[in-house]
Amino acid sequence: MLTTLSIANYRSIQSLTIPLGPLNLITGPNGSGKSNLYKALRLLAKTASGGVINSLAEEGGLQSTFWAGPEEISEAMRRGDVEVQGGPRKDVVRLKLGFASETFGYTISLGLPEPQQSAFCFDPEIKRECIFNGPYYRPASCLVERKGSMVRIRSGRSWEVASQHVPSYDSMFDAHSDPSSAAEVFHTREMIRSWRFYDHFRTDADAPARKPQLGTRTTVLHHDGRDVAAALQTIIEIGDKEALDRAIEDAFPGCKLRVVTKDDGRFSLEFYQKGLLRPLSGAELSDGTLRFVLWVAALLTPRPPALMVLNEPETSLHPDLLPALARLITHASQHSQVWVISHANRLINALNQHSDCHAIELEKVLGQTEVQGQGMLDTPNWYWPD
Ligand SMILES: Nc1ncnc2c1ncn2[C@@H]1O[C@H](COP(=O)(O)OP(=O)(O)OP(=O)(O)O)[C@@H](O)[C@H]1O
Ligand SMILES: [Mg+2]
Repeated sequence: MLTTLSIANYRSIQSLTIPLGPLNLITGPNGSGKSNLYKALRLLAKTASGGVINSLAEEGGLQSTFWAGPEEISEAMRRGDVEVQGGPRKDVVRLKLGFASETFGYTISLGLPEPQQSAFCFDPEIKRECIFNGPYYRPASCLVERKGSMVRIRSGRSWEVASQHVPSYDSMFDAHSDPSSAAEVFHTREMIRSWRFYDHFRTDADAPARKPQLGTRTTVLHHDGRDVAAALQTIIEIGDKEALDRAIEDAFPGCKLRVVTKDDGRFSLEFYQKGLLRPLSGAELSDGTLRFVLWVAALLTPRPPALMVLNEPETSLHPDLLPALARLITHASQHSQVWVISHANRLINALNQHSDCHAIELEKVLGQTEVQGQGMLDTPNWYWPD
């Protein structure tokens, strides 16, 4: 489980360190930075699959993702006595992302290259990475360190240089994935790779989830939901079938969901509804019904990941379905750490009733995302290596 997440210089997040629980609920008004927090976490996840630099490019480049406000906001600016203005920078700008889990943590910092003769002078570079022991980085707790193109690994009281030529666009997870030589790097990478992000299930008329699909055993639902029938059948065969039936009954009393296999090996959904003479197929389900079924398939996964992030799961669900969705989410949070980013009051209220729910309400103060009510004492200790 992640215990702390820290972000600096990413869009509206100038600097934020938040403690995390098993079930985290992120709320806040429009523009407060919920999606930015989500994107920052997804960017962090990309480090383990070799896609962090490309993701930044897709977001419009590193320069556009940097916090656009001043390096420091003074008390006078906060009071409104003086206008918000930037002075000369004391530090070079770096986008920094990091987390700590119960056993170890990881930080990455990205910046622009030194001025040089290259057409890629706006390509972000990975400047620094670190895997550390314990709840936050300290020089003494650092296990693996990357500075520029050099990676070194602690071995007893000394350091061993593992590589001196890591390209600036590769993370240390790309360069050192051999579990025997760099076990910490391997384990951190595998942990980050297991994180699952769900933010856009397709339920339009042409959505792949509505069509019969060739099925293989599916323990992880695809992020667009295309393999929903196979994922549900996998839950029925090797997962918690009772929980699946309960979730459908909870949301649609008296209804039943079946997965049928055609002769050609294609899997499809059948939804039995009171009052109808035949079951409805995936193509005939309403957007909301299909979306709820997709959430069932995602959340009851027989192979729960370390972390599951759900971005606005309420989309196109009727408010009456939200308490059932909340029960499904709290059930999932017994096996995985869960993040929910939501706007929907009924979902928020239902999740807040759960004793494990850790509510994080964001607000924007002078353009900057802050956690409402978070004081120095609730902020976990955090230090960046650079
Ligand atoms: N580089 C940047 N520097 C500072 N602020 C930025 C930067 N890029 C975007 N923002 C701000 O971030 C805010 C958007 O945040 P975000 O999309 O996370 O909001 P949200 O909480 O998800 O809102 P909604 O509920 O509308 O989806 C905008 O108000 C924008 O001004
Ligand atoms: Mg948003």
